[in-house]
Amino acid sequence: MSLQAIRYDGKQLLIIDQLQLPYLEEYVAIHSAKDGWQAIKDMRVRGAPAIAIVAILSLAVELRTLLDSEKLSTSSQEVTSFITERLHYLVTSRPTAVNLADAARKFEAVVNEHAAKVDSTGPSVLEAYFQEAERMLANDLSDNQSIGAHGSKWILDQALLQGKTIVNVLTHCNTGSLATSGYGTALGVIRSLHSKNALGRAYCTETRPYNQGARLTAFELVHDKIPATLITDSMASALLADPKANVSAIIVGADRVAANGDTANKIGTYALAVLAKYHGVKFLVAAPRTTIDRATKTGAEIIIEERPASEVTTIKGPLQKSAARSLQMETIRVAAPGIDVWNPAFDITPAVLIDGVITEKGVVEKGSDGFFHFDSLFEGASRS
Ligand code: MRU
Repeated sequence: MSLQAIRYDGKQLLIIDQLQLPYLEEYVAIHSAKDGWQAIKDMRVRGAPAIAIVAILSLAVELRTLLDSEKLSTSSQEVTSFITERLHYLVTSRPTAVNLADAARKFEAVVNEHAAKVDSTGPSVLEAYFQEAERMLANDLSDNQSIGAHGSKWILDQALLQGKTIVNVLTHCNTGSLATSGYGTALGVIRSLHSKNALGRAYCTETRPYNQGARLTAFELVHDKIPATLITDSMASALLADPKANVSAIIVGADRVAANGDTANKIGTYALAVLAKYHGVKFLVAAPRTTIDRATKTGAEIIIEERPASEVTTIKGPLQKSAARSLQMETIRVAAPGIDVWNPAFDITPAVLIDGVITEKGVVEKGSDGFFHFDSLFEGASRS
């Protein structure tokens, strides 16, 4: 059974509570945009595609409840304004990943377009929203499977030039089923390599301070029985220098890829890209086209979210399971009291350090000017 971070049946939205993983697999119900906003802010769901999907679906379930309880206005304009206001609110939950803002913009356009029709009503605007939400969920999964196929082929083609048919790879943070509607982006590439019997070993970083690697990626790799080894972030240089580890590629996800290819991703990504360059290891970013933000020219324009100091000064773990199966988490302070803390959640990897951006349409490499050009990916796109 594949892991599912998000369960949606048109009426009910359940998300796996990622704060309790890997200790407990518990789904929590999201009833409204407010619930969705809070779950994203608290990182019960995280990962660029997953937060966009949960935001959109949280509003879908709220709208469905309004429709069923007959509390909905019949005016398409009033319903459209309500949806627009909620979408703008959802976008304020986390700033760096572009997928959320991108989805909000698209859904705003969908409802506005529908409301402009002469025969539109409040309920028919909702129907347009619901249909688009279902499409978004299905598209994300199929896009991830395509990213996996394109990425694994590219890596194996490169490896073959060095006479290798089996590769070892390193990944950072969590980009798997838990960060998307399923399968994953960078972790999807690893899944695809594994399914082709071409993966020797996947290494995953712990990903301090939030430990998405140790808690979530390790959980997914064990779940799928993929040969994998966990390292702390500070071990990556030793790993790349180790001929026995023989790492061929580092594959990461992205929260926002600027028009020139500069990439915002989990803090620590930039350090890995520098290491990859020094060691002659391929460095790849795997992301759907919804993560490419052509309106942002370079990484310097990307807003980096700063998170609370407590994420750095403390560690969390399970205390005990109560009879009700809910988990009590214990927080232990590890840093000296009084120390100042800087906790940026993401960093920017300059395009110059990236060998390829793996999308559902194929792998984009840099042009002769040393930068990425993504426009051809969007040409003739029915959904971009
Ligand atoms: O703070 P997070 O856990 O939301 O950060 C997640 C990442 O940085 C991922 O690499 C990125 O969102 C891509 S997920 C497919």
